[in-house]
Amino acid sequence: MLSVSNLSVQFGKRVLFDDVNTKFVTGNCYGIIGANGAGKSTFLKILSGKQDPTSGQVHLESGKRMSVLEQEHNAYDEYPVLETVMCGNKELFGIKSEIDKLYEDYTDENAERIGELQVAFEEMNGWNAESDAAALLSNLGIDASLHYNMMSDLDGKQKVRVLLAQALFGSPDVLIMDEPTNDLDYETISWLENFLANYDNCVIVVSHDRHFLDSVCTHISDIDFGKINHFSGNYTFWYESSQLAARQRAQQNKKAEDKKKELEEFIRRFSANVAKSKQATSRKKMIDKLDVSNIKPSSRRYPAIIFEREREAGDQILNIENLEASLDGETLFSKININLTKGDKVVVFSRDSRATTAFYEIINGNKKADKGEYAWGVTTNQSYLPLDNSSFFKEENGEDTLVDWLRQYAKTEEEREEVYIRGFLGKMLFSGEEALKKSNVLSGGEKVRCMLSRMMLMRANVVMLDEPTNHLDLESITAFNNSLKNFKGTVLFTTHDHEFAQTVGNRVIELTPKGVIDRYMTFDEYMSDKKIKEQRDEMYS
Ligand SMILES: Nc1ncnc2c1ncn2[C@@H]1O[C@H](COP(=O)(O)OP(=O)(O)OP(=O)(O)O)[C@@H](O)[C@H]1O
Ligand SMILES: [Mg+2]
Repeated sequence: MLSVSNLSVQFGKRVLFDDVNTKFVTGNCYGIIGANGAGKSTFLKILSGKQDPTSGQVHLESGKRMSVLEQEHNAYDEYPVLETVMCGNKELFGIKSEIDKLYEDYTDENAERIGELQVAFEEMNGWNAESDAAALLSNLGIDASLHYNMMSDLDGKQKVRVLLAQALFGSPDVLIMDEPTNDLDYETISWLENFLANYDNCVIVVSHDRHFLDSVCTHISDIDFGKINHFSGNYTFWYESSQLAARQRAQQNKKAEDKKKELEEFIRRFSANVAKSKQATSRKKMIDKLDVSNIKPSSRRYPAIIFEREREAGDQILNIENLEASLDGETLFSKININLTKGDKVVVFSRDSRATTAFYEIINGNKKADKGEYAWGVTTNQSYLPLDNSSFFKEENGEDTLVDWLRQYAKTEEEREEVYIRGFLGKMLFSGEEALKKSNVLSGGEKVRCMLSRMMLMRANVVMLDEPTNHLDLESITAFNNSLKNFKGTVLFTTHDHEFAQTVGNRVIELTPKGVIDRYMTFDEYMSDKKIKEQRDEMYS
């Protein structure tokens, strides 16, 4: 279906891909995994023709169509919803736009051209396009009342659904997606998992989400050591078997025969478990073809995320009175009264992700509240990881090296020293040459790692995080999670990562249009409490 031959990609001395030959087959769902910066997004861009490799070719079987789920979820903000979906079939959409334009300024000459275009349009079943797009949207849970709204009116999860409809429009033979679960809530992720598990065409998806990979993949494609290796099975299988392979490699004196037996036994047990589990969809037939050959211990590394405080905060951390915010006339939250004290690690939660983001933007002084006040304790200093970090990586400063980039946040002469700055970058795995690369070439996860070096440098005693795990690889998420468990200051955070919320938080604050719910308990206790659930339902109604 889709094949790659002799592909190499190199940036300066850094080799991302070295003579890769591989193919992707109909009916399979490939989960592309690899560390932040391994080259996953680059590989997808090369597959879809958005970027050229240093050498090598990509070949899509003739007559087949490929589509890509847009990673930049705000890219179509200026377009109406239905039109965004129809853009998914570029050729058809181009013809339609030309016809509309010619009609605006109708002449005899145009009439002929319109006639030609209409024939082409009809051949592509264009007259049904609008109703097809509308049906697709409705199946994806985007109500008909929203179809003519602008994309900018929708929230993050609705946008992803529309962009997914765009990618699926006209049933592409190959569907490509880069981190589709970022910006999604639990419910929409489960919905997407279900959808993909039953989608029969070829799917190629990059993700750092273990649960998602396990539910949808028939194959794992690991990018490491400049190569791409496919393994049949899901993520857990890949992970467990690569661990087993690494252990076996260490057991030098064990007989080859015994090792082989151990592997066979492992595969047998694993296949039996998968067959019994709920995930065993029709696609999971491949499981009986599992093999563990070629698995190498991986080259992944853990960053060292350590938040230190310049000074300890006093008892007064943050006081909020009667805070209210809205967006385009819709109330996001109101009547918010909160008093934070030292040691609080708060999961800030809302059913509407725009509410939590607005909350952080307000208390960090980037946005004005409609009503109410907030006051930080005099002994506090804050650092904040925003959901959208694009304003920190402006195109006009793109030529800055990472050392320059981080240096702008240093407060003293000593902090401006190159060794000092490099220390923080090194902890986040940018060492040697890597610290001198330009900030405009960073991958999604690398940008977040830069933002984390900045936060570490700031040595705040209050840390705020809006979806900290977005873009990060599993090694970074684990390191981050542990560092927050150990942090002695105050944390306010919002995450769709269940493990993160449960293991870091000791208090849950929910922002609703009708007020706040505030409880000292773990996230699981909060979510499973029947009384709270009733109260929650009532406060959003
Ligand atoms: N023009 C360039 N010059 C130098 N390095 C580049 C250039 N473009 C990309 N890179 C580097 O190539 C690497 C691969 O980037 P890519 O975006 O493909 O990573 P990724 O695997 O998708 O990572 P993530 O998990 O963080 O999204 C990164 O280290 C990036 O900094
Ligand atoms: Mg990427």
